[in-house]
Amino acid sequence: MKEQLIKDFEAEFGKGGEIRTYFAPGRVNLIGEHTDYNGGHVFPCALTIGTYFIVRKRDDRKLRFFSKNFAKFGVIDASLDKLEPTGDNSWINYPMGVMWALEDKGYKISNGFDMLLFGNIPNGSGLSSSASVEVGTGTFLNDYYGFNLTPDKIALIGQYSENNFNKVNCGIMDQFAIAMGKKDNAIFLDTADLSYTYAPLKLEGAKIVIACSNKKRGLGDSKYNERRAECEQALSELQSVVKINSLGELTEQQFEQYKDAIKSPVRQRRAKHAVYENQRTIKAVEALKNNQIEEFGKLMIASHDSLRDDYEVTGIELDTLVEESLKQKGVIGSRMTGAGFGGCTVSIVKDDAIDAFIENVGSAYKAKIGYAADFYVVEIGDGARKI
Ligand code: GLA
Repeated sequence: MKEQLIKDFEAEFGKGGEIRTYFAPGRVNLIGEHTDYNGGHVFPCALTIGTYFIVRKRDDRKLRFFSKNFAKFGVIDASLDKLEPTGDNSWINYPMGVMWALEDKGYKISNGFDMLLFGNIPNGSGLSSSASVEVGTGTFLNDYYGFNLTPDKIALIGQYSENNFNKVNCGIMDQFAIAMGKKDNAIFLDTADLSYTYAPLKLEGAKIVIACSNKKRGLGDSKYNERRAECEQALSELQSVVKINSLGELTEQQFEQYKDAIKSPVRQRRAKHAVYENQRTIKAVEALKNNQIEEFGKLMIASHDSLRDDYEVTGIELDTLVEESLKQKGVIGSRMTGAGFGGCTVSIVKDDAIDAFIENVGSAYKAKIGYAADFYVVEIGDGARKI
């Protein structure tokens, strides 16, 4: 892979100079959805698929970007002297955003770069292709300039760029998982204070299967910001009756006790999801520790139900994938993963049931939705790094 990409780089940008190569994974979240901007817990892991970066420092301040995934746009030129959003949703806003964020935080980038990118995660599908580009960019700039940023700090720079340059009010989960990933482990992260532990994912005799709905998110980003605003308002209503800093501080019982302070039924459901999902995540990690994988699966299913009914971020595509998955033999759990509104589901499927799972869920999905889903049997890998 790397050798071929270097050849591709040289074909676009010419030979010579010192070429460096980096990789940043995609991520899948096992449970704990829409909790990371509510001071709750998440349980994601980094994947072995992700984004490859082939880069060479330039003598001037030009930036030249080429993505093999968006090859039709050819080489896109930009400059370190004009780190502003392009206004046309171009993918280069992700690396540019990180450069802007670093400079904004006082880390000077003196030279431009030629960069070739290739991602083997499906774009815009809920596996964090954009956070992968952000963290990968932070990782290679940190390496070139010796900024001495630890991976968790690179994650925060990535989130800062996404919030302020790309104007999506995302939480920290994606960037954190991508920066801090560890082979065969999921990360149990408390987003209230960024404390975390690694949990070995012992799925004896089963694997993680991702089904990509191929429904593009479209309006997803604005809906995402809307959900976040609803939670913030619910929090401030609750704060008139209970002393809390985030929804993640409430247990289910406390929520039931105070919920009437939230004046709209819709906001009440949003907040309910955030509170219950956080508690589910804590229980799920406990279940995994105790080798209660069936219990873990049940909590995944409850998570999906709550995202469908209370948080309303699923849609017919994701619901169909989960419904059909749960009809199959050997399925321990299944739910949507990521922001929702399209994107992917994550299922835990017994090894000997995987082929039938893909076949049956695939054909039922196509019959109902009219186009095909893609399936990936994935492995858990390490975080962003030089390769
Ligand atoms: C997106 C965001 C994350 C998180 C998830 C939902 O992936 O980038 O911060 O909020 O949605 O859990």
